[in-house]
Amino acid sequence: MLNILITGGSGFIGSHVVRLFVEKYPNYHIYNLDSLTYAGNLENLKDIENYSNYTFIKGDITDEDFINKLFEKHRFENVIHLAAESHVDRSIKDPLAFVKTNVFGTMILLNAFKDIWQNNFNGKKFYHISTDEVYGTLGQTGLFTETTSYDPNSPYSASKASSDHFVRAYGETYGLPYIITNCSNNYGPNQFPEKLIPLFINNIIHNKPLPVYGDGNYTRDWLFVIDHAKAIDMAFHNGEIGETYNIGGFNEWKNINLVKLLCAQMDQELGREKGTSETLITYVKDRPGHDLRYAIDATKIKNDLGWEPSLTFEEGLKKTIRWYLNNEGWLKNVTSGEYQNYYQKQYS
Ligand code: NAD
Ligand code: TYD
Repeated sequence: MLNILITGGSGFIGSHVVRLFVEKYPNYHIYNLDSLTYAGNLENLKDIENYSNYTFIKGDITDEDFINKLFEKHRFENVIHLAAESHVDRSIKDPLAFVKTNVFGTMILLNAFKDIWQNNFNGKKFYHISTDEVYGTLGQTGLFTETTSYDPNSPYSASKASSDHFVRAYGETYGLPYIITNCSNNYGPNQFPEKLIPLFINNIIHNKPLPVYGDGNYTRDWLFVIDHAKAIDMAFHNGEIGETYNIGGFNEWKNINLVKLLCAQMDQELGREKGTSETLITYVKDRPGHDLRYAIDATKIKNDLGWEPSLTFEEGLKKTIRWYLNNEGWLKNVTSGEYQNYYQKQYS
């Protein structure tokens, strides 16, 4: 049995990665370490929670003593690190929380991993999951490649950039074997309804305004979450130590065009008259420091590892909408309590 620690496995992307690894690799024991913040949810992994090669551990990556003991106990050969504070708007309101988890927490994990394995890094791997937002913003043209300079603009992306730098520095300084992937915007089932797509799906269901920031002409490159999980599987197994891979959907959308497509698909799924949901679009004050455009050149992972997205955006969006419509209980649970306070503060 190979002991693999996956951090943040109860969150959006983490839960899809955990499921894929638990189901596909019965000879791996997957330990999911998650502190269950507002974004972490045990319901996300209900279907696999009793598998014999899966263990959930509730714990915080910033708790040094706890993490060191955990590594001593389980001697994780591999780490796939996803735990993070992940929402840009929250990082604007509370940047220190992002430094704590994303920078300090990553350091705690790196140190624990180094202390256990530094005399024998052979066959060990620390896989750090990062974002394309570390590269800052593009103008109307061009793509982010693996050699694009880091130029983060939000507290979120600055904290992720910092953690990427530390992972690389540990590789150079201590010989720690690492892989980093930087992925574009994900969407799909189980995403907390604070990010654009699930927030707008939830608002359309409830006939609430759709708050489009600024003029809506911001561009993102969207990838279905299960395609990201598959890319992580490939990079984990076949990626070269010390390498970075960009992961993207080859799928750029201006926010306003995406929102219009979403509205049209929602009208169809809900049996509402064409054009109904679009009337909910409301332009609101822009996000401070809003990056104009992200777009990934994913040629390297395509050529080196043979990875490609499997779904078109229209297909992925339809699957996503249907998941939210079929899981209204999930949506109701995560939007009760604290969510209301967040929503009030962010959009009032
Ligand atoms: P998420 O916010 O849905 O989930 C984060 C998970 O980490 C939650 O389960 C949460 O409980 C857990 N967590 C947070 N702080 C923790 C702590 N201190 N200790 C232990 N667990 C903690 O995030 P996501 O969208 O699934 O993103 C996962 C990773 O992928 C992040 O590192 C993020 O930067 C990166 N990423 C996300 C996207 C995207 O579009 N969502 C794109 C590229 C990269
Ligand atoms: P988001 O899903 O927060 O991802 P990120 O900021 O990491 O790219 O936002 C995606 C885009 O949608 C981004 O340009 C901001 C915009 N947006 C809105 O216009 N309104 C909203 O309510 C949210 C949450 C995002």
